[in-house]
Amino acid sequence: MSDSATLRFNNKETQLPVLTGSEGERGINIEKLRSQTGLITYDDGFGNTGSCASAITFIDGERGILRYRGYPIEELAEKSSFIEVAWLLIHGELPTEAQLRGFSGLLTEFQVLHEDMKYHFEGFPPNAHPMAILSSMINASGCYVRELTGPYDPRKFERHSARLISQVRTIAAFAYRKSRGLPIIYPKPEYKYTANFLHMMFSMPYADLDLDAAAVEALDQIFLLHADHEQNCSTSTVRMVASSRANLFASTAAGVCALWGPLHGGANQAVLEMLEKIRAAGDDGSRFIEAAKSGDGSHRLMGFGHRVYKNYDPRARIIRERCEAVLARIHRSDPLLDIAKKLEETALKDDYFLQRKLYPNVDFYSGIIMRALNIPVEMFTVMFAIGRMPGWIANFREVMDDPKGKIYRPRQIYTGSTERHYIPLGERK
Ligand code: SDX
Repeated sequence: MSDSATLRFNNKETQLPVLTGSEGERGINIEKLRSQTGLITYDDGFGNTGSCASAITFIDGERGILRYRGYPIEELAEKSSFIEVAWLLIHGELPTEAQLRGFSGLLTEFQVLHEDMKYHFEGFPPNAHPMAILSSMINASGCYVRELTGPYDPRKFERHSARLISQVRTIAAFAYRKSRGLPIIYPKPEYKYTANFLHMMFSMPYADLDLDAAAVEALDQIFLLHADHEQNCSTSTVRMVASSRANLFASTAAGVCALWGPLHGGANQAVLEMLEKIRAAGDDGSRFIEAAKSGDGSHRLMGFGHRVYKNYDPRARIIRERCEAVLARIHRSDPLLDIAKKLEETALKDDYFLQRKLYPNVDFYSGIIMRALNIPVEMFTVMFAIGRMPGWIANFREVMDDPKGKIYRPRQIYTGSTERHYIPLGERK
């Protein structure tokens, strides 16, 4: 197979090297294109552009494959835990017992926020969106330890990343409590990561939450399935900010903002709102599907479609299977699950969706589980952010550890006015 591509332009031929990834995917290396030809490339939305070489996560969109550091998502979902997968993504290998014990100890050490952080929460209006609070408070929490906002130090990265993973959970729970006017519930050192989160979310000062193992396991799975996803919008944002050598907290706070958008992580909230709207209209989903096919965006089938997956998102398949199991184990039924399944069944027989290779993505069913766990819909994207934090941290580290360490600075095709000269105010029409 050729290891170069020939570009013929203006009667000149230029050889461009072709890179091959460990799974055989090929990419034309255009790092010298402009200096050799005067040309740049143009790729609106970067659908055909590799922004980096990365060893963290592999996706094959045509075959519906997702692997974290080479391990299939199906195996990790069945056999691993969110915290073990967090270590795997950040450090590249499954942790030994000693490493897992040490990591768990750091998560416990850092689970409480600096007490002064409480005053920041007081400053938000009660109806502030928790993603706005999360992004602000991640940056704020970085201010309480001087070295966190200083230059990257690989020797301290393990502690800094453990602090962030632990505190993003505490910040999220505190944001929820604040929004409901509820007293803050502090974490318990004896609880594991996800159980502690549910405790901080739903316990009361006079009564601890009765932790349901099924609920803890279901949410831990949601976090695990969201932990990384190669160069998606928010992870690319984290890498972009990290490429300027900004600190870990600033880079991941920017990732939260990118994730918030309804086309990205905000879709899980938009799916539930869509299902509620369909139910309220007495529609079994078929009317909505017809409207979604108009393509005008007003009735987009949220939770469907993906830039990379042109097949079933493997995470959606796992979450769909877990939905029924979780609902059964916590003795809940949900009419929205029936509507979601009807929408999927109808769409996957409809040429409009089949021709465009639109399948359910990770957001289509995740909200059903979170709703069953009494997590309010406005907190759904926050759950996504807690889950994605290890992936963002792993990508941040990959940027920081890159010996070339180039700042991300794309070019553009300029379409504005050509040169013109200043017109004094009195002479303007
Ligand atoms: C996530 O990148 C990642 O990896 C993201 C993520 C991760 O883990 O980080 O997987 C998480 O963000 C999942 C996606 C969540 N978003 C949604 O569910 C929102 C609904 N889906 C879409 O808006 C859309 O499918 C995107 C944004 C996900 C992908 O958009 P693309 O690749 O830019 O595709 P497109 O908008 O160019 O659509 C191609 C065609 C268009 O029709 P035509 O112009 O060809 O006629 O498909 C249509 C679109 O109108 N289309 C849809 C649709 N999604 C695309 N039509 C109806 N409903 C939809 N959901």
